[in-house]
Amino acid sequence: MSTEIYLLNGPNLDLLGERSPEIYGTMTLDQHVERFRAIAHSFGATVTHLQSNFEGELIEAVHAARNSAAAIVINAGALTHSSWALSDALDTFSGIKIEVHLSNPAAREPYRHLSTLAVAVDGSICGFGATSYDLAAYAVRDLLALRG
Ligand code: DQA
Repeated sequence: MSTEIYLLNGPNLDLLGERSPEIYGTMTLDQHVERFRAIAHSFGATVTHLQSNFEGELIEAVHAARNSAAAIVINAGALTHSSWALSDALDTFSGIKIEVHLSNPAAREPYRHLSTLAVAVDGSICGFGATSYDLAAYAVRDLLALRG
């Protein structure tokens, strides 16, 4: 049976490629997902991807992951800074959880300094542009190996 990773992307990340390229780069979300999937396949994992602009849809995806997935990698966009509901949902998932950001929120506006998700995840990878997603995939690989 193959290992499933849920890759979740939140509000406005469907606009990657055109949205503030000086901050988020020029790659589209499809390109990020394709790269993530290729790395996951290299260690025998499959990827279920959802991008949603709706908080509830992301929460329901976390609930769905509880039944099948070994890991969740999530870039919640601005919900990162406000959604205790998404944080609570992640708290119910017992597998590997990694928060990802293209930019480094800690080096940006003060309202981006709080991550409601940080208390619910194993770790966060921020500020490396497209490489943030790559590093998250490699972190899942290594944590799966460590946890058996
Ligand atoms: C982001 C950072 C958030 O602060 C912002 O609201 C986003 C993108 C990132 O990937 O750098 O939408 O999550």
